[in-house]
Amino acid sequence: MKVQNAVIPVAGLGTRFLPATKATPKEMLPVVDTPAIQLVVEEAVRAGITDILMVTGRGKRSIEDHFDRSAELEHFLEAKGKFDELKQVRAIAELASIYYTRQRDPLGLGHAIACAETHVGDKPFVVMLPDDLVRPRTPLLDRMLKVHERYGRSVLAAIEVGRDEASLYGMIEPEPVEEDLVRIVSIIEKPAPERSPSTLAAIGRYVFTPEIFDALRKTPPGHGGEIQLTDAINLLAQEQAVYALTFEGRFDVGNKLDYLRATVELALDRDDIGSQFKAYLAELARRERLS
Ligand code: UTP
Repeated sequence: MKVQNAVIPVAGLGTRFLPATKATPKEMLPVVDTPAIQLVVEEAVRAGITDILMVTGRGKRSIEDHFDRSAELEHFLEAKGKFDELKQVRAIAELASIYYTRQRDPLGLGHAIACAETHVGDKPFVVMLPDDLVRPRTPLLDRMLKVHERYGRSVLAAIEVGRDEASLYGMIEPEPVEEDLVRIVSIIEKPAPERSPSTLAAIGRYVFTPEIFDALRKTPPGHGGEIQLTDAINLLAQEQAVYALTFEGRFDVGNKLDYLRATVELALDRDDIGSQFKAYLAELARRERLS
């Protein structure tokens, strides 16, 4: 069955990015000129997703406004003859069918995904965490959906990390299946480095079978007192195969340093400013060497 639904949880508080996130959702922080959440929605659309549910919380209104029509702005741009900009803002509202549901209390990522059950129903679906950005040229989601089609099971995305970073991720105990693909024997949320089963970390792209909702119902609060998606995946992996596709080229834009890296690298990739920005970086590096 072709996967058409994606769930994007955006109810987190973004404490790693304060003070910027005091009054602005972290998902709206721009990478060059485009909010991170728009890049994620565009990635979903490129992979054939047509229906997106965002799980929101308090203070996230600007996300809804961003994906809505803006009659006043459109009228203004039209009157000024700014037709390129007009096309651009209209296109955002037409990317996909976007729906919203509220997670009333931030009880954890697992709880946020459970809030999507009524909307998604009994179908496989994608989950995308907007903190994680993937280079637009990397067809990660497409590849994950192909693995899902082949095996009919859930598929996670995973990256290699340093052992000292294990306590930041859901860490996978893998069993090799084929190149770039492992079966998950178990997965543990944010273990101490010495307790991590490997250096393979799950990141924020998932294709789930609907049985993840049963697993979430059985999942008690875990790390940090929150209902952890990782714990539910671990339960699911005991009942049916769960796979992880390994890849490279992800930025964690919920983290200040990685946000800067994403901004620099995605700016370099752009047709409009890429070459000028590259020249600036070369000049900056030269000045730094001289000083
Ligand atoms: P994070 O663990 O990054 O938490 O959430 P956070 O609150 O967003 O950010 P920091 O760590 O305080 O800076 C991972 C994903 O899960 C969502 C977040 O919006 C983010 O997409 N989430 C987390 C929820 O939707 N609800 C929650 O209760 C917790």
